Amino acid sequence: MNIEDITICGGGNGAHALWALLASKEDLNLNLYLPLEEEFQSFRKAKEKGVPFEIVYEKDTHRVSMDRLAVTKNPKVVGSADMVIMVIPAFAHRNVLEKIVSYLKSGTIVAALPSRSGFEFQAANILKEKDKSGVIIAGFQTLPWACRIRKYAQSVEILGQKDRVYLTALPGNYSDFFTNNLSQLLGLNLTSYNNMLELTLGNQGQIIHPGIMYGAFSDKLEELYRKKDIPLFYQSVDREAAEILEAISREIINTRESIEDNFDIKLDGVVPIEQWMLGSYSKDIGDKSTLYKMFQTNRAYKGLKVPVKQSGDGLYKVDVNSRYLTEDVPYGLIVSKAIAELAGVNTPTIDEVITTVSNWLGKQYLIDGKLRGEDLAETRIPQNFGFNHLNTIIKLVSK
Ligand code: NAI
Repeated sequence: MNIEDITICGGGNGAHALWALLASKEDLNLNLYLPLEEEFQSFRKAKEKGVPFEIVYEKDTHRVSMDRLAVTKNPKVVGSADMVIMVIPAFAHRNVLEKIVSYLKSGTIVAALPSRSGFEFQAANILKEKDKSGVIIAGFQTLPWACRIRKYAQSVEILGQKDRVYLTALPGNYSDFFTNNLSQLLGLNLTSYNNMLELTLGNQGQIIHPGIMYGAFSDKLEELYRKKDIPLFYQSVDREAAEILEAISREIINTRESIEDNFDIKLDGVVPIEQWMLGSYSKDIGDKSTLYKMFQTNRAYKGLKVPVKQSGDGLYKVDVNSRYLTEDVPYGLIVSKAIAELAGVNTPTIDEVITTVSNWLGKQYLIDGKLRGEDLAETRIPQNFGFNHLNTIIKLVSK
């Protein structure tokens, strides 16, 4: 089977970059599914005008024609797709999956770019309800690009591209096919994981983003900053914050080890944070002696500031409602916590971080370190989808 028909779902930064990068592939039938009316209308009008779409990469501007891109708000478009790629935040996966599921044919790959944690439980559940066992699920560990829309439906800038991106599929025997096809189509260095549990537990965003918000910004939430004084995000990691990140990572590694000791499954992709940093940013890090120094001297993180919101008088405050918490906790850290609980692994640091930051968000996920909070239903913990024991999780991801 070849990938000849791709539907991209989403109209944000990542979707702009993905479609523009695929636009030059003449053998590809490319569709853009935009469930949000305003986004659909913007793309429709841009296409009608016939202005070329611009993609800016390393300061060079390339123009691509929108003629071959079919733009629609009709979910039926996925019916012909060999691959559907959802380039949307994790909180939108359910909405899009529920809209498209009835039209998916057996053998279509539905990929989340990126998947974050727990995508496999949610997607398996939605597919099962519609009796779509022949549909293949897949996920990328991260978006391969840092990218920003310059002008909606007209121009996107790629600010940087990751050296290597991990991805996998379920059933696992489709992983290499998926990886090879997309490496070729996108010209990226993509590597297969063994299974989707590695994506879930190995999601480093769940450690880094809530960990830094907790470790470096807990005492700065009330501070007001002038624009030029907004603190750097990654370079705010001091020794104590680095210790928090290491402790969260260790608790996830303990969970990996407990699962590997008790089940026949490999979770090689779930690595300590230091190892992940060195593997991802080896060329960018100046001082590799400690995790703290790695954050301080990583060129790829240079200049990136903490998310802020305006607070009147031209001043800014740290914005706790950013994706660093609203995505990386309910679709990240809480999922790993839930798996750790099923594995009987203690997670005191994860519990403390989740409890503190969910308070900032006005959410309750944990009570006394247990999964008893009233807002758990909105998270992607496996228990929400009927996976109440590790053996059912291992059975799912080992298919
Ligand atoms: P974005 O905010 O630009 O795009 C979000 C898009 O998702 C919207 O434009 C819309 O098309 C869709 N969407 C939102 N809510 C929806 C809903 N309720 N139903 C259906 N569709 C909905 O996001 P972006 O930047 O494209 O990021 C996508 C993912 O990639 C996120 O998980 C983000 O954290 C991640 N990411 C993005 C990076 C970047 O440089 N843009 C870098 C690393 C990760």
